[in-house]
Amino acid sequence: MKKATQKIEIIKRTKDSLRLRVPSHKAVTTELVERYLRGKIKSVGFLFPPVKLPKDGLQFTHISGKYSMKLGFGVDAGKARQLGKPPRKPKLRLIVPATIEEARKAYHVTHTKYFVNKFKQHLSTKEKYVAGHPTWRWMDKTISVLLLRDSELVGMFTLIRWKMADGNPCRLILWSCISPELGAAERQEAHYQATRWLRRNNLELPLRAAIHAFNVRSQKFHAKLGMRPNMVTAFRMH
Ligand SMILES: CC(C)(COP(=O)(O)OP(=O)(O)OC[C@H]1O[C@@H](n2cnc3c(N)ncnc32)[C@H](O)[C@@H]1OP(=O)(O)O)[C@@H](O)C(=O)NCCC(=O)NCCS
Repeated sequence: MKKATQKIEIIKRTKDSLRLRVPSHKAVTTELVERYLRGKIKSVGFLFPPVKLPKDGLQFTHISGKYSMKLGFGVDAGKARQLGKPPRKPKLRLIVPATIEEARKAYHVTHTKYFVNKFKQHLSTKEKYVAGHPTWRWMDKTISVLLLRDSELVGMFTLIRWKMADGNPCRLILWSCISPELGAAERQEAHYQATRWLRRNNLELPLRAAIHAFNVRSQKFHAKLGMRPNMVTAFRMH
């Protein structure tokens, strides 16, 4: 009987993507990725029962370097945790960008500085191309907050309404960054401000995030928020 529930089944198919249900993240191997990521199929998502994040994250280092692996993390409505501490003497300001253009600009500056430059060697050809062509087509459907230290941009969080694998709505964290230059107290303050905003946006809808397998620090941050991984998507690196 057990075997029947452990089957790998296709649960969604589009012209260039597949989504499968697997019994565990451990079932995802290079052989399994290559069985489905072929021809016109550009991405294969593997949905698995949520797990507590292991100490070193879920890195999928056993998967061939020919593929990029991106995890889906989630937390139910109202369940995201408050992180950080309210400061005694505030150093940071959380503001909403006045226009979509301001948000777009802040996204490009922070994404290039804190993500693309740092992780270039891990990004796929398509991801590098998209990062280098600065019009993020989804920006006008997003809401964002910026973290400022005086007038310096030291963080940004961006949310969009999205659909989960089961078709129900959620809010997806499209971008999150906190400057590595912040000291411990400022980082606590940044966590406090950012998670207060995220929690306000998690009252009615689950919160989700897509995080590369190589980005262990981000995986651990989102796990501290209460999010657990329950999906991994494989793409070709080139
Ligand atoms: C992701 C990000 C917003 C997290 O915020 P942060 O303030 O750095 O989060 P933390 O400092 O709490 O780090 C999270 C955990 O990772 C650990 N960590 C720190 N450096 C690490 C490293 N190089 N590798 C692995 N884990 C690391 C921390 O110890 C912490 O765990 P702990 O609380 O149990 O000690 C921030 O690191 C960032 O902006 N990264 C660059 C942009 C990015 O990758 N954005 C996310 C895209 S999905």
